[in-house]
Amino acid sequence: MSTFQPLQAPEVFGEAPAAAPPGGAKAAEERPERVDTEQRNGSVLGPTGRPLREIPEPPPVERHGPAQVLAMCNQKGGVGKTTSTINLGASLAEYGRKVLLVDFDPQGALSVGLGVQPHELDQTIYNAIMENSVKVQDVLHHTAIDGVDLLPSNIDLSAAEVQLVAEVGREHSLMRVLRPLLGEYDYVLVDCQPSLGLLTVNALTAADGVIIPLECEFFSLRGVALLMDTIEKVRERLNPSLDIVGILATMYDPRTLHSKEVMARVVEAFGEIVFDTVINRTVRFPETTVAGEPITKWAPKSNGAVAYRQLAREVIRR
Ligand SMILES: Nc1ncnc2c1ncn2[C@@H]1O[C@H](COP(=O)(O)OP(=O)(O)OP(=O)(O)O)[C@@H](O)[C@H]1O
Ligand SMILES: [Mg+2]
Repeated sequence: MSTFQPLQAPEVFGEAPAAAPPGGAKAAEERPERVDTEQRNGSVLGPTGRPLREIPEPPPVERHGPAQVLAMCNQKGGVGKTTSTINLGASLAEYGRKVLLVDFDPQGALSVGLGVQPHELDQTIYNAIMENSVKVQDVLHHTAIDGVDLLPSNIDLSAAEVQLVAEVGREHSLMRVLRPLLGEYDYVLVDCQPSLGLLTVNALTAADGVIIPLECEFFSLRGVALLMDTIEKVRERLNPSLDIVGILATMYDPRTLHSKEVMARVVEAFGEIVFDTVINRTVRFPETTVAGEPITKWAPKSNGAVAYRQLAREVIRR
């Protein structure tokens, strides 16, 4: 993993937004997918402006665990946290890793994206956190994806945010629940809700590392300074080994100058912690939510599936 460097997000977006792509975003989405590469001095540059580094397929693991816990975190809504949790998880499992996905958002979108109807569940991660009599194994679901299990959530979890305030060791509640499972998995991915409240602090306290999905959009860097500040505080006060594993640029549109400009500024601001892998904007992702499947299953040869597999290789290597 990379060494943690407290970062200040610079005020990079001072000007007015660039014009929308001709024909609008929808028209752009309907054109065929394109991979954004450029030849310079004999090497192929990826969308980050860095040479594309080919990462070989990771060797299989001989036995599972102890798990590395990664929090997928950004308090900005709709940046691709849940989509990335599902598809990174499914891709890690394709490489033989055992993966536990934790839905830590009362909206339950991760559960829905894996074909589980949260409102039909009697017990969720909320019960494992709040009730001593409920064991985490009792709320564990096996998903339709080989090697991927799920701790689901639903709207009940929103009560935990309030109820935990009065608890002793409130920030360590998720960590306590996950501990008995860590030996069985290689990766635990925690899908955070879009806020920096107590649930997210719990995820950061339980985590070894953070992955920050960042939409390639004009205002996406607004608020990153506050997120970095929160991560730094959790590291100082609750979890000294917390590390930023990487920033993942999502919803990149290679056809627009706007996306390229945002990408360039993200790389300028955060440097090497930005993953080489960039996730393009495509209607394929909303389709997968409806299908309740990861893109690696729904459209295994699509650019999106290839990109998340590459991200999995980067995560395994970091
Ligand atoms: N690369 C992409 N291209 C196009 N649409 C995408 C992409 N990634 C995600 N989406 C869509 O954008 C919406 C928001 O994505 P997602 O739910 O993953 O974000 P989130 O950060 O988890 O949101 P929230 O903050 O509400 O939890 C969803 O409808 C999803 O299908
Ligand atoms: Mg989400």
